[in-house]
Amino acid sequence: MEVTNVTEYEAIAKQKLPKMAFDYYASGAEDEWTLAENRNAFSRILFRPRILIDVSKIDMATTVLGFKISMPIMIAPTAFQKMAHPEGEYATARAASAAGTIMTLSSWATSSVEEVASTGPGIRFFQLYVYKDRNVVAQLVRRAERAGFKAIALTVDTPKLGRREADIKNRFTLPPFLTLKNFEGLDLGKMDKANDSGLASYVAGQIDRTLSWKTITKLPILVKGVLTAEDARLSIQAGAAGIIVSNHGARQLDYVPATIMALEEVVKAAQGRVPVFLDGGVRRGTDVFKALALGASGIFIGRPVVFSLASEGEAGVRKVLQMLREEFELTMALSGCRSLKEITRDHIVTDWDHPRARLAPKL
Ligand code: FNR
Repeated sequence: MEVTNVTEYEAIAKQKLPKMAFDYYASGAEDEWTLAENRNAFSRILFRPRILIDVSKIDMATTVLGFKISMPIMIAPTAFQKMAHPEGEYATARAASAAGTIMTLSSWATSSVEEVASTGPGIRFFQLYVYKDRNVVAQLVRRAERAGFKAIALTVDTPKLGRREADIKNRFTLPPFLTLKNFEGLDLGKMDKANDSGLASYVAGQIDRTLSWKTITKLPILVKGVLTAEDARLSIQAGAAGIIVSNHGARQLDYVPATIMALEEVVKAAQGRVPVFLDGGVRRGTDVFKALALGASGIFIGRPVVFSLASEGEAGVRKVLQMLREEFELTMALSGCRSLKEITRDHIVTDWDHPRARLAPKL
């Protein structure tokens, strides 16, 4: 049967993938409260559409850090994509280029920065985890630059890996035929089997949990994992080129708010000095619109990419991007918006706009 929305790929991926791989992609931390909330929170935002506006031409194009893209829908970094499909990150890179949008490659990709660059032209960002060994970090950033990557998404919410119980139960580790390609020559490419999650042990061994504001330099970076006004201000002070409001797809600290709930606080704190992006739970064009109405400059998707990759490879990722694009275009048309700058806060109403109204007695 034809796939008609992004969410349907999850069930297909579940049928196709070994349990250990599917659980790694799908799961969140601990009680998975934030995982459900990332989706639920979108349903507490409703539209105030405007009518009788000529919407025969709709322009979804935008620029991110000066790079022109076809729509404000981009690809978040997700690790180990070859576990989903043999073409892994290659397929994702090609699908992103075909859609005219940005792919972010994970530090823990199963294809190297050079390999991804070899798939052809495209605007790509590199996601960085900061290793204890700063030479490793410097080398990696240099390689990404040389391979033509345009920005660094610095992930700051992972001093330790969140407690993902499915991975602990499954004794998750990377299948032996796959390696962390960016670290292959550095002896950091393999993940050992452990008594709990192999990935959690790898992080405990290699990732620098002393990372703090002092160690962030003036590199052109997007700070990924900001959820508060305080950290938004510190990011900007530290010289960030942009902020990604993210809770790591609800895989780190459980009971943090949905990213769409945290977005407005961060946008207000940023005061337009740098663009603010969002990831987490975006599955519909309406979600994209809601994020933009709350001040985001664009969004990133994580799981929809790995699930569609597992289902149909490159064609699946292309279809996900196409479906989101079409849904977003339709939302713009039905809301009376012809360009991204016409999307305003007045096009939505949220649960928290009129808290008193909810307390009013029913007549
Ligand atoms: C991630 N995420 C992530 N983030 C990061 O900075 N580096 C990484 O290697 C990964 N790997 C990763 C693997 C998988 C399977 C998932 C689901 C997520 C987080 C990711 O970039 C993004 O923040 C979320 O996935 C966005 O939420 P949705 O779209 O998955 O709901």
